[in-house]
Amino acid sequence: MDFQQIFGKAAKTKAIAPGRVNLLGEHTDYNDGFVLPTAIPQQTTVQLGLSDDGQHHFYSENLQECVSILDIYHTPSGFASYIFGCIEVLKTAGYTIPALNMYVQSSVPMGAGLSSSAALEVATLRAIRQLLNLPIDDVEIAQLAQQAEIHYAGVQCGIMDQMAASLADTQHILFLDTRTLERHVLPFPSKSTVVVIDSGVPRTLATSRYNHRRSECQEAARLLGVKALRDITDTKVTETLPEPLNYRARHVVSENNRVLEVLQGVTPERFGKLMNASHASLRDDYEVSVPALDTLVEILQQTSGVFGARLTGAGFGGACVALVVLGEEQAIATQVLKQYNNAGYTGQILVPDFEVNNAA
Ligand code: GLA
Repeated sequence: MDFQQIFGKAAKTKAIAPGRVNLLGEHTDYNDGFVLPTAIPQQTTVQLGLSDDGQHHFYSENLQECVSILDIYHTPSGFASYIFGCIEVLKTAGYTIPALNMYVQSSVPMGAGLSSSAALEVATLRAIRQLLNLPIDDVEIAQLAQQAEIHYAGVQCGIMDQMAASLADTQHILFLDTRTLERHVLPFPSKSTVVVIDSGVPRTLATSRYNHRRSECQEAARLLGVKALRDITDTKVTETLPEPLNYRARHVVSENNRVLEVLQGVTPERFGKLMNASHASLRDDYEVSVPALDTLVEILQQTSGVFGARLTGAGFGGACVALVVLGEEQAIATQVLKQYNNAGYTGQILVPDFEVNNAA
């Protein structure tokens, strides 16, 4: 079923946004810190037209489900909540939004930590911007999308995912300072590319545990007398905090330092070591890993041709990312998946063919 078949007339406009994989800088964005995501080839497409009956209608091709918004005081659940959230934040920003027909199709894997929700939000906002000619730039799109996620999906997220969906491409790494929103693109380290493998373990209680980590960080910053943990650069400072805030803060400070080291320009070997250190820190200090992710990361790290590997996204399940020798990605991904599945899991290769731009 296409737009025409569902809504009885052709779409007026169409917009696309990609998912993202974060290479380094995890759980730093809501601490005003630094991140290094890149867009993945998988994308979400939103087609849009005006609705004639005064109600919004959202159709998901993936779910083959149509949600009609009859009551604006009742927030829908599932995919429609993100779209509804985008419309509501636009209204709060002062725009009048007419009743819409929307058709959504996505190849971004859901629940794998690759920001399918940010891709949906950014594609939705882009499509509405186009349809109504709204004077909103790409950074504002990301900010509105983040507000939709916080207020309508209940995740107290930072701005990395929405900025990546709005501004990143698949050929570069996007460096972002989440406090100032200063950003620039970096090439991938020379002769390297990225492999992303899903652990097959869905993220459990991810929202509540994520929000809990965020409040732990806020408390740590308060006790240290700083606006955000980004303002601490020496991990020794975190030793004065009570447990577990000392470990949580040590992760954030060390992770920010790892991202800043990459900014100076590093070899793929060094980048890989920083990714390995990031995983250890997420596992031991931040405690957002699970056994399946540790197993997958260990297999990746022991595979020849892999510079480094770590869990990616919020954790608690989902995918792992590895930096690997360019040209060997297919063989590495296949070999690692076989070994991982032999350990009793059901993983999946998500990104074997990244077309990256490398440093000389
Ligand atoms: C989720 C959030 C992001 C970020 C990551 C962890 O993807 O949406 O804002 O905090 O987790 O780095």
